[in-house]
Amino acid sequence: MSSPSAPTPGSWPAPAAVASAEPPHTPMPTAPAAAPGLAQHVQEGLSRPFKTLSSMYFYDDEGSRLFQQIMALPEYYPTRTEFNLLTRHREAIGRALRPQNPAEPFFLLELGAGDGLKTKILLRHLLETDVRFTYVPVDISEAALQGLAGSLRAELPALQVEPVVADYGDALRLMASRPGRKVVLFLGSNIGNFLPPDRQEFLQHLVLPLTPDDRLLIGFDLQKDPRLIRAAYDDRQGVTARFNLNLLHRLNQELGATFDLAHWQHYTDYDPLSGAVRSFLVSTRAQTVHFAALDWQVEFAAWEMIHTENSYKFTRPGIAATVQASGLVVEEFFTDEQEYFADVILRPEA
Ligand code: AVJ
Repeated sequence: MSSPSAPTPGSWPAPAAVASAEPPHTPMPTAPAAAPGLAQHVQEGLSRPFKTLSSMYFYDDEGSRLFQQIMALPEYYPTRTEFNLLTRHREAIGRALRPQNPAEPFFLLELGAGDGLKTKILLRHLLETDVRFTYVPVDISEAALQGLAGSLRAELPALQVEPVVADYGDALRLMASRPGRKVVLFLGSNIGNFLPPDRQEFLQHLVLPLTPDDRLLIGFDLQKDPRLIRAAYDDRQGVTARFNLNLLHRLNQELGATFDLAHWQHYTDYDPLSGAVRSFLVSTRAQTVHFAALDWQVEFAAWEMIHTENSYKFTRPGIAATVQASGLVVEEFFTDEQEYFADVILRPEA
């Protein structure tokens, strides 16, 4: 499984666990969690001829913390670029997202909210206008959401917030079960994690519960100097390597696995033809890894790879084709001066 839309293991913590304020509407219900789980995913992915693990499992509490460090790295341009883009275009973006009738309340749902650093630009701006909305940050890391809720309470006390711990699949079910106008944020080029067919399927599911009055704001990292892209996923301080390797540490902790991190390396490549950055964990010698929780073991040959992530980079025509095939229409296309990144406003076609 290489898409982050896979169901998350375990139960669905109630939103109240991290909720920070009384919502003006009925609270978002929790979607039922269907969970094949980490264990099944790992066994399936590591039994393939080309071994694979889903990037969605990067984001345990430590992984979310490491990703925050990545976002501050000099090589990792996407966060900085999108931050500046949102700052520069916040008014136009706010206009494009607000309902025709400003009195109509709406849900501002964010998939993969993380630390919300970029979103706060929009939240701050929307609070200064006369719109009525509830911010629903969705993330698979409860610790990240708790941090976000805490910082929002301190920085934007007037904001109505209803955090939800969920993966994308649960978030889609949650949206479908919820009436009312919706604005969906999917920032940071998280969409780049999907393989093209999974991306299409995800967008098609995302559009289903939406009406032509609803809006989507999706961030796409654009194709650019391939060296720049490669460097963003192989930083000099080795934070991205730690982020990737943390997945093995997580398997040691949660599944009683015996990965010896001294014999694994981070490796990444960028293919400018497909636009795919692919990240791998490389076994530097022949080794056997046991999983106590699975009563199972798996062999790795010297220099065998585990594919752990895709981070697709887009072209403008590529974005147009993807969204059109998903029943979406581009309303507005925002980019930075260097055209490194795009935030695209979309609506379902009527
Ligand atoms: C959070 C999926 C947007 O693919 O750029 C960063 C994750 N992986 N460095 C990305 C990531 C390695 C990031 N996304």
